[in-house]
Amino acid sequence: MCGIIGYSGSENAVDILLGGLQALEYRGYDSSGIAFFRSGGIEAIKTVGKLANLKELVDQKGSSLQSNCGIGHTRWATHGKPSDLNAHPHSTRNLSLVHNGIIENYLELKQWLAREKGYSFLSETDTEIAAKLLDFAYLEVRDPLRAIRKCCSQLKGSYAFGVIFKDYPGEIYVTRKDSPLICAMDEKGSFVASDIPAVLRHTNRYYTLEEGEIAVLRSNEISFFDSELNPTEKTVSVANWAFNAADKGEYDHFMLKEIMEEPDVLRNTISPRLENGLIDLKIDGLSDAWLSSFHRVVIVACGTAMHAGMIGKYAIEKLAGVPVSVEIASEFRYCDPIITKDDLVILISQSGETADTLATLRLAKQKGATTLAVVNVVGSTLSREADLVFYTLAGPEIAVASTKAYSVQLAAMYLLAVKLALVHGSISEQCAHEYGRILLEEVPSAVEELLNKKEDLIRVSETIKSSDHLFFIGRGVDYALSMEGSLKLKEITYIHSEAYAAGELKHGTISLITDGVPVIAIATDDACFEKMRSNIKEVRARGAVVILICKETTAGTSDIADFIIPVPGSLDVFTSFTVATVFQLIAYYTSVLRGCDVDKPRNLAKSVTVE
Ligand code: M6R
Repeated sequence: MCGIIGYSGSENAVDILLGGLQALEYRGYDSSGIAFFRSGGIEAIKTVGKLANLKELVDQKGSSLQSNCGIGHTRWATHGKPSDLNAHPHSTRNLSLVHNGIIENYLELKQWLAREKGYSFLSETDTEIAAKLLDFAYLEVRDPLRAIRKCCSQLKGSYAFGVIFKDYPGEIYVTRKDSPLICAMDEKGSFVASDIPAVLRHTNRYYTLEEGEIAVLRSNEISFFDSELNPTEKTVSVANWAFNAADKGEYDHFMLKEIMEEPDVLRNTISPRLENGLIDLKIDGLSDAWLSSFHRVVIVACGTAMHAGMIGKYAIEKLAGVPVSVEIASEFRYCDPIITKDDLVILISQSGETADTLATLRLAKQKGATTLAVVNVVGSTLSREADLVFYTLAGPEIAVASTKAYSVQLAAMYLLAVKLALVHGSISEQCAHEYGRILLEEVPSAVEELLNKKEDLIRVSETIKSSDHLFFIGRGVDYALSMEGSLKLKEITYIHSEAYAAGELKHGTISLITDGVPVIAIATDDACFEKMRSNIKEVRARGAVVILICKETTAGTSDIADFIIPVPGSLDVFTSFTVATVFQLIAYYTSVLRGCDVDKPRNLAKSVTVE
């Protein structure tokens, strides 16, 4: 949700900023802009729309645009529509500033700055108020660090700021509260960014800025200060991601590349958690005895991660017999939730920066629960604040639609379910062994097999590509999968889709089924298959075109649907992985056929750091 980049060093900052913004564009693409030192002053270029528009403007200026220090921003609009004026950086006579977050008291500050200090405003953004408040503080104290401290003490809300001051060429000042920032250095200079992929081409060694810390970047050093402006020492973290992990490689889209990586990232996530065939979660501070003491699990997350939690509920309850509730973070935190010190609260998040998930983590900690973050980004806020951390090892996920990160979140859920089942005595050691083997060997191979079914899936996409409405139906775990299948499809194809518990259809929704409406029926659970067969008949009788996703071992399916996509795997409990790959690919091909921007669907951003 908005991406920030900054660079000070020996190379041309303009090129480095544009390269960094390219890697951050998944965080928002309503507008972009850069500001950099040039000819004794600060020059800014910004424009509405995708980064390509900014690159075009820069190209028009030719090779004359040389600078050794600057900041850049890619915007996901919150306050004020996407426009040139609302684009960042926001500048005053003394400084240029980029921002990720929301200044909640901006209206009050705006009135004060206008009335008392004579400032006027060009944009509709909260960010411009922060820029002008900092300008005012700077004019008073004439020192960037003290000005930032003074300005931040008046702000309410969340922010990550990158600022350059006209009087301090070659220096970038950054600070943050409730929005992420990392700093990094290599022999060519120093960098600041919202996220690691933006600097990965240069270095995989980075420093995470803590809440309220301020950093000053120069070409040959980065200095860190706490909120009282005392210098601080920091330890470097290393991202275990290949330098080209955030590149598209041979693929047309990141989404396809990331789906194709699923077998590998599943193996990467599962194999380190198996010791002599038995699951060892390798979570620092978590013993078997402690794990067996939890009698209730609460899973909280947003979007796709929440859907992975729904599969977790199914797996944990089925295998371990431990009750689980799954909650949407943005709802749960405002419902005065009942959480006790005896609960294990699991927060699932790819980015580890989702604002509502983070707020829930803090709430759960306040209430004394033990918190476990299932997170993909090493060093993210969630991973730093949770009591326990399970890292999913998907590598960077760039496409806005989450695919491989969801698959490894499922792996985390199943590993946890099997482990809980063993420590609670619900399954034998032999059974736990067998489940571990299935997860490590059968699951990634089954996903691999499916990746070769391109033609069948494109045929389904051809069939649904012109639909206005579509339904996913399923029961139990298949309903949880339907929720994610439906989100994936609508997110990137803009076809209106609903996921329904198959048994609920006739309580109202079946009135929407008319001739030619596609219904994707997920039916991998043997125990419910006959009920699903009836539900499929009911919608077909009303004209629906049915696409059935079922296990390849399920008998008697030949004439019940218009398309059948059989998925490998004998044990129902583990078929979620292959079903996920199927609906992700159907969504992908449909999006391509409809000519949509697959990796950057309209109005969305990858990392939702505002509430
Ligand atoms: O980074 P997180 O996993 O916390 O993100 C949660 C959701 O914003 C995310 O899963 C979103 O729903 C995806 N764009 C869906 O593809």
